[in-house]
Amino acid sequence: MEKSKQAMILRNPQALSSKYIPRRLPHRDAQLRQLSIFFPGVEKSSAFFKSVQLIGSVGTGKTSTALLFAKNLEKGFETARIIYVNLKMLGDPSPWTVYTSILGQVSGRASRSLSAGEVFEKILDEFVKKKTTSFLFIVDEADELTSSRSLRGGRVVYNLTRLPEFGVENVLGVVFIARNEEWSRGLAPEEQSTLGSLIVRFPRYTLPQLVDILLYRASEAFSDQSALPDTVAEHVAKITIDLFEGDVRKALDILLYASLIADSEHSEKVTFSHVSRALAQILGRSSLDADIVKTLKQLERVVLAATLEILKNRESSYTTEREVIENVQALCERLQLPEPRIEEIEAALQRLHDLGILRISGPLRIYAEVVPIDDVRSLILK
Ligand SMILES: Nc1ncnc2c1ncn2[C@@H]1O[C@H](COP(=O)(O)OP(=O)(O)OP(=O)(O)O)[C@@H](O)[C@H]1O
Ligand SMILES: [Mg+2]
Repeated sequence: MEKSKQAMILRNPQALSSKYIPRRLPHRDAQLRQLSIFFPGVEKSSAFFKSVQLIGSVGTGKTSTALLFAKNLEKGFETARIIYVNLKMLGDPSPWTVYTSILGQVSGRASRSLSAGEVFEKILDEFVKKKTTSFLFIVDEADELTSSRSLRGGRVVYNLTRLPEFGVENVLGVVFIARNEEWSRGLAPEEQSTLGSLIVRFPRYTLPQLVDILLYRASEAFSDQSALPDTVAEHVAKITIDLFEGDVRKALDILLYASLIADSEHSEKVTFSHVSRALAQILGRSSLDADIVKTLKQLERVVLAATLEILKNRESSYTTEREVIENVQALCERLQLPEPRIEEIEAALQRLHDLGILRISGPLRIYAEVVPIDDVRSLILK
């Protein structure tokens, strides 16, 4: 049966939101397994206190993995309780704000008039009261504790990693999430000592992994799997690696935007063109600035015009060095300019990259950082 023209691609747009925790996390099985080795359950025999760090750069699935693990632990063990604190969400990452947030979660009470030390005492009392519950702490954005914004953040590490020494028996451990392993360098020796060296690493996603993740997330969000062709998923993944260091959150943003554009046009599929327009939105690209153009040498202008001309007539978001060279040569011939050498064209491309007008991710992928305007020639070549 032919599909209705009104059919929408997005059945469940929230599934592409970066706040959504999906049921599965493709390519994070090893990290989830490591966590379940460290925290196998709540029984006394398996439950001795551990301090674990999740380390990986932006958008590598650290928070989602921790939260999915936590959710499964709570599902598997009725008495397990997760306390999640995101330090970026707190006004300032001081002991007082961290302990107040923890106390709020454990007891449902706030305590404005107490000092940090007193709030911590209250937390200890609550743990003793709730001795049949086993708690696991997740401290996200832990880098904040050693940043210049934090006053005595290291104290939080010290106190949380020494809970057993304070007589608390029903805390399984603490998971600190940070982007950079160096975050703990800012801690005092006694704080570092109990932080320990159990580290779960989150490497950046590779191109095929990003494609898998996009197809999986699309399967949750789209009404029909065929709405995201593999070639388009791969295109989004390449852009993500070239422009956003493989941050999967950006990949999902591009896909969400592109599918909203596709839906607004009643398209049955997400196309390369939808992705290009979504990318322009996300990069917040501006039009080419006439003052910058004035500073360019003649060949640089020709190379820029040639590149923007290709991109304007193209569905895809990037072009190749080879295409640019061919178009530059054609343009020079038409304008009766001397034919430039390849090295000269490459040098011009490099300068345009350094000026932030083009973005070159190797010879096969050249992006524009400016919107390819219609009268590109008159602006550039007059
Ligand atoms: N393997 C995966 N499969 C499906 N979705 C994923 C996967 N990894 C990450 N995501 C999604 O990508 C988004 C970003 O992931 P997450 O917030 O976990 O990254 P992060 O490493 O904590 O990033 P940051 O360093 O910025 O805090 C979330 O929407 C998450 O659900
Ligand atoms: Mg995170």
